[in-house]
Amino acid sequence: MQINIRKAAAADQSVVMDIIVRTNFFRAVEFDIAREVFEDAILLNPGCNYQSYVAEIESKVVGWVCFGETPCTIGTYDIYWIAVDPDYQKQHIGSQLLTFAEKEIASQKGRLSVIETSGSEKYKSTQQFYIKNGYHQAACVDDFYAPADPKLIFTKVIG
Ligand SMILES: CC(C)(COP(=O)(O)OP(=O)(O)OC[C@H]1O[C@@H](n2cnc3c(N)ncnc32)[C@H](O)[C@@H]1OP(=O)(O)O)[C@@H](O)C(=O)NCCC(=O)NCCS
Repeated sequence: MQINIRKAAAADQSVVMDIIVRTNFFRAVEFDIAREVFEDAILLNPGCNYQSYVAEIESKVVGWVCFGETPCTIGTYDIYWIAVDPDYQKQHIGSQLLTFAEKEIASQKGRLSVIETSGSEKYKSTQQFYIKNGYHQAACVDDFYAPADPKLIFTKVIG
């Protein structure tokens, strides 16, 4: 799938939020966080380290990735959000967005990429996606999101 990746702009917000909602992977409270992160990245609020990019196919936005240097670290970056339009999933768009983010991180002298996700059954495909892209599970925090819903921390050495 031929995609173009570019910096996210304010005009992309409604499409990106629509994608987040339609993935059916996030709770309402997470929509608000996604919106805040998106706006912070666009407005480049002081202290905000978010870098936000969209994937598009013939000018249609089909995915979003947001990453940034982890505060109080040297060269560690968090991938805060990644999502692909359900109509376009499993066509390696997510992998291309992730690879793009990793190249950006490397170009900024980043050395470690970190992604947190749920260890629940529902997120098996997401976990598989990270493993397929070279991440390994570095930690598990039991009962983090809710009882019996652990947080998994995936990492990948960059460069
Ligand atoms: C996770 C997500 C970004 C992946 O994007 P994508 O474009 O669909 O993924 P890709 O096509 O690049 O998949 C790459 C690999 O991941 C794995 N994978 C992806 N989707 C999968 C699924 N539904 N089931 C099992 N494995 C899957 C496969 O191994 C795949 O490689 P293959 O096609 O060669 O077998 C997308 O599914 C998504 O938006 N999910 C909902 C939101 C989400 O979970 N975001 C992360 C929150 S922490």
